[in-house]
Amino acid sequence: MNPKRLRQKHHQLFGSEAELMVRAPGRINLIGEHTDYNDGFVFPAAIDKAVYFAVSQNNKGLFRFYSVDFDEYFEMKVSALSRSGTVWANYLLGVARQFVKAGHAIRGVNCVFGGDIPVGAGLSSSAALETGFAFALNRLFNCDESLLSLTKMAQKAEHEFAGVMCGIMDQFAILQGKKGNAMRLDCRSLDFDYAPLELSETRIVLCNTKIKHALASSEYNSRRKECEQGVQILKKYDPSISALRDAGIVLLEEHRTELGETVFKRCKYVLEENNRVNEAFPALQKGDVASLGQLLFQSHEGLKNEFEVSCGELDLLVDLARRMEGVSGARMMGGGFGGCTINLVQKVHTEDFAKKITESYRKATGTSPEIYVVKIAGGTGEVMI
Ligand code: GLA
Repeated sequence: MNPKRLRQKHHQLFGSEAELMVRAPGRINLIGEHTDYNDGFVFPAAIDKAVYFAVSQNNKGLFRFYSVDFDEYFEMKVSALSRSGTVWANYLLGVARQFVKAGHAIRGVNCVFGGDIPVGAGLSSSAALETGFAFALNRLFNCDESLLSLTKMAQKAEHEFAGVMCGIMDQFAILQGKKGNAMRLDCRSLDFDYAPLELSETRIVLCNTKIKHALASSEYNSRRKECEQGVQILKKYDPSISALRDAGIVLLEEHRTELGETVFKRCKYVLEENNRVNEAFPALQKGDVASLGQLLFQSHEGLKNEFEVSCGELDLLVDLARRMEGVSGARMMGGGFGGCTINLVQKVHTEDFAKKITESYRKATGTSPEIYVVKIAGGTGEVMI
């Protein structure tokens, strides 16, 4: 994607120059999956795949959007702002709604966007769309919203217009990611620490199954409900528990029967995953990739057996990776039911890894995965193009 093309397209479609160009990256997550909406810890980073926006105001009272990747135009009156039948437009409309709710006068907006974050790969292409557009509207209309409120507005857009009750990790990392660093984020206090992720001997390699099972959003919401059910039961015995973050494994074991096997497993996974994030942070700071990698493998086991958000294709990729030379760790990444695995691979073995895992996966499934060796990039911002 050449962002200059967006500028040209903007001019061609709307007859004027874009006033602002914005870049919003995708994200990876080293570890800490399905912990964000349990007030827990996550360890994401922004990457060198991004969506770009060319935007300007219009005085026609219209939202005029064009998706370069879908080659599709969308238009709606600002006064009629509501969910539409166009899935991609809803992400932008959902964000605009948050600005209107916050009392900002959003007049007409022209927006041309496109990028290279693969859709449905667990790299948060939708959150990048929401977050980048929130950033753009804030600048365009001088709304003076803080980074934190933009993060929350983008998250709300996903809840209300996409119907996924996501946590805050994706929008946070996309907005505040830092080049060369992962961030350990406390999803309750929203305090965070950066940890350098420039591993001289290790590469972060993503293997994309190119599959996204249709049940992903409904299962996501049902996992969230199961975690909340767990909290409702546990807080009867310890009123200080307001999220799974506050519960301990002993209490969980004590009430296993009342929780029921499914809710028990979900809660156990979340508690253990939080502990893994807190072990992963010092491991990365020490450059101890071997320990970090083991935590990734453990995380996958939990996601597969206890949280049950993996799928055959992801399990296959992790099993293949486990047996390959130079792999310190691997696991499924993101919400689950398809998308990518994240692999820590020794630099010297990267090419071989990509070749062999592609061959073995193709043999087993009949399709080739896509392989991306990612770099850690900065968060959302204006670009001068
Ligand atoms: C999706 C959600 C995030 C997070 C992850 C799982 O990416 O948007 O909030 O819950 O799944 O860790």
